[in-house]
Amino acid sequence: MSGQSPYYLTTPIYYVNDVPHIGHAYTTLACDVLARFKRLDGCPVKFLTGTDEHGQKVEKSARLAGIDPQAFADRVSLNFSDLLTLMKFTNDDFIRTTEPRHHKACHALWQALEASGHIYLGSYSGWYAVRDEAFYGEDELRDGPDSKKIAPTGAECEWMEEPSYFFRLSAWQQPLLDFYEANPDFILPAGKRNEVMAFVRGGLRDLSISRTTFDWGIRVPGDERHIMYVWLDALANYITAVGYPETGAGTDYARYWPADLHMVGKDILRFHTVYWPAFLMAAGLAPPRRVFAHGWWTIEGQKMSKSLGNVIAPDALVTMYGLDATRYFLMREVPFGNDGDFSHRAMVNRINSDLANGYGNLVQRVLSMIGKNCGAAVPQPGPLAEADQRLLDAAYALLETARSELSVQAFHRMLDAFWAVIGAANRYMDEQAPWTLRKTDPARMATVLYVLAETIRHLGILTQPVMPDASARILEQLAVPEEARGFDRLGPAHALVVGTPLPPPCGVFPRYVEEPPRS
Ligand code: MSP
Repeated sequence: MSGQSPYYLTTPIYYVNDVPHIGHAYTTLACDVLARFKRLDGCPVKFLTGTDEHGQKVEKSARLAGIDPQAFADRVSLNFSDLLTLMKFTNDDFIRTTEPRHHKACHALWQALEASGHIYLGSYSGWYAVRDEAFYGEDELRDGPDSKKIAPTGAECEWMEEPSYFFRLSAWQQPLLDFYEANPDFILPAGKRNEVMAFVRGGLRDLSISRTTFDWGIRVPGDERHIMYVWLDALANYITAVGYPETGAGTDYARYWPADLHMVGKDILRFHTVYWPAFLMAAGLAPPRRVFAHGWWTIEGQKMSKSLGNVIAPDALVTMYGLDATRYFLMREVPFGNDGDFSHRAMVNRINSDLANGYGNLVQRVLSMIGKNCGAAVPQPGPLAEADQRLLDAAYALLETARSELSVQAFHRMLDAFWAVIGAANRYMDEQAPWTLRKTDPARMATVLYVLAETIRHLGILTQPVMPDASARILEQLAVPEEARGFDRLGPAHALVVGTPLPPPCGVFPRYVEEPPRS
């Protein structure tokens, strides 16, 4: 067992200015797979997601839609909660930054920062990109058309001059560097850690953390003219959800904080690995244990964007290919942490080769042979040959491999390991040829089919976090009851019971036969 200490993981909270696309679904999916895995491994989990509802960007979108920001946020937030149902995400909480619990936490955090002397009043003049809700230094910008200034992200910047409270970020340069040194896995992948460290070594400017030229946000306690900077507000969601400012013994905060993992896209790494730990340390709170930055999806080689009209909605994929195939593809196709390209061709290839021909074919061949030749019940094995034991040992070893790959969020390597066993099992079946043994040595045929069924039981249990529905159907066909699907049931001690009647087999992973949409 992995131990019983609680595991707290979070997604970014999504801006409510947009409809969800596969980029959003991706971040939450990775967390969902991890949350399901940990729960099956006997670990208490808190999995948080939600929506980021304040700030100029949302205010602007609401104005464009012609409704007030709260009504707008209510409407768009629903799209994100619908996504949870569609993708079968198993979050334990859904936070909205417009909730009273969040106002309370933000005020408390502000006051803690103020009390520790890390906030001062000044005035900001500089560049701001509403799209990123981020401040940029002159040296970071390039000239765009119409003498506009453009941020490295491509966002247009505007000049801002207004009274503002500042956070003494400059004082946190060395403590942050010390923290990164002492916690080499705080930022993953390692390449991203190097980028962040180089940025911090380059020097940190104090950070403007309040605005006075718009309204939609949380007011600064004690100075109502100011609205808290939306990133300070947004980052605080992670502690709101564990009940901050209640931090004493027996609280959720005591149980879950520091978070084990903030999963984020690479574009928002700086906010999570520089500002956030600095805010927390300044407020006397522990920084999170890890921030993992995943890559970005392009679509058929192009950036996903509304103006190009190539945005892929998760429900379109699920309708076209099914939920399990969609989840599998997103976790398998691209080494987690790298950028990746979505194409219908690649999706169909994965469905047909990995799922239909690989996993599906294995399950179907084995179960239909058992159905026809073993009285539709778990067959009685005889003495195990070396090849039998080798396959079983490979299946037994998968849990440790999966644990260790997921401890560094290497979802793709975990799946590679599962598919190596699927490949080995299909080859074993071809070599052993139980269809020939049926006539020459039925006892040996029963042993081979038993070994294969037991291998499939392992695979069925282990693929649940990625493909919950298909895995459940596989386990049902092996008559593995729901309460026997946890990782504590892996290994020989809980092997299939000889003679257990099995339901009639049915296909789990259909081939995709239509032409995929043209790329
Ligand atoms: N509201 C902030 C996060 C605040 S967290 C305290 C935000 N929201 S967002 O809606 O713009 O983005 C949320 C997540 O979606 C980010 O992790 C981002 O990287 C991810 N993605 C958005 N487009 C993406 C792709 N094309 N591909 C992969 N992920 C992408 O940022």
